[in-house]
Amino acid sequence: MREHKIVLLPGDGIGPEITNVAKVLLEKVSHKNGFKLIFNEQLIGGAAIDSTNDPLPEETLNTCKDSNAILMAAIGNPRFDNLPRNKRPETGLLALRSALGLFANIRPVKVCPALIEASSLKPDVIKDVDLMVVRELTGGIYFGQPKGRIKTERGERAFNTMTYSQEEIQRIATVAFQLAMNRKKRICSVDKANVLDVSQLWREEIEEVSKKFPAVEVNHQYVDNAAMQLIRNPSQFDVLLTGNLFGDILSDEAAMLTGSIGMLPSASLSTDGPGLFEPVHGSAPDIAGKDKANPIAMVLSSAMMLRIGLNEHSAADDLELAVDNVLKEGFRTSDLSNGAYKKLTCSEMGTELLKAV
Ligand code: IPM
Ligand code: MG
Repeated sequence: MREHKIVLLPGDGIGPEITNVAKVLLEKVSHKNGFKLIFNEQLIGGAAIDSTNDPLPEETLNTCKDSNAILMAAIGNPRFDNLPRNKRPETGLLALRSALGLFANIRPVKVCPALIEASSLKPDVIKDVDLMVVRELTGGIYFGQPKGRIKTERGERAFNTMTYSQEEIQRIATVAFQLAMNRKKRICSVDKANVLDVSQLWREEIEEVSKKFPAVEVNHQYVDNAAMQLIRNPSQFDVLLTGNLFGDILSDEAAMLTGSIGMLPSASLSTDGPGLFEPVHGSAPDIAGKDKANPIAMVLSSAMMLRIGLNEHSAADDLELAVDNVLKEGFRTSDLSNGAYKKLTCSEMGTELLKAV
């Protein structure tokens, strides 16, 4: 029987609740499709700081390196907000992305017909939305040197550096162009080339790479304009390619087109090692432990893991279909419910999804 080694990283906040839902579903679809998933649960983020004083313990990193795919739920906890950067939950995730070379972050944003009225935008504006954010994930201002805080005669000063090399830009652009070839063959590259040198290089390199993909139509938007276009006319986008910081911001904005950030999955990929699959949303400390979270982004991340990370397409189809069917039947978690629907807790949603597989 085919076997795949999966590292589960429940992390913080609502992470453990949505991981429980995903794990049971993964067990069912793997059984149904004739393969075996070997789960290994590890600590990351605030949960790891609490028990090991390190947001990315060595055991977690080594287990991830030795796996076929990693499924992470969420990290972050306001309890750690005032700690030094190396003792914050987010640092664990950034270190994991960097150590595994997960430079390509892919965030598909597709409006589900059953949820059109859950969006804060008009149905007409969002009905045809089907876009993919391709975000560079291991460079840019998140990792640029120098960075830090220094004391000066006139008080403290803090700085980060937004930097990209030609090679980093070409590598992520190539991923985006390849994805575009299997979609509507349109790329919008987002930068701030009217102000930033790093963006000027970005734009030049995108143009360079585009010469190898003449079938793909490329346009460039400044990030401020792109933010506006995303809510003005989001269906103009097919592949939206951008750097680390702009991608972080625009993908949250794009998520809301689908009605709730609780719906959006993502994949972070390297050139050859295991991929990391995680919801776009965070740990939602305000509702953690209350069984209120929407597990769908986690379930769809599990589907992405099956499809992209493990080549188990039919099991991935099963999960995606279950999500569609449950939504069609009118089941909603509270982030999606407007009173007219059957409002479920996180675990009840898990039960409905399990019935639908
Ligand atoms: C994301 C998150 C992370 C990021 C945080 C948790 C470090 O917001 O994956 O979008 O900024 O990349
Ligand atoms: Mg983010």
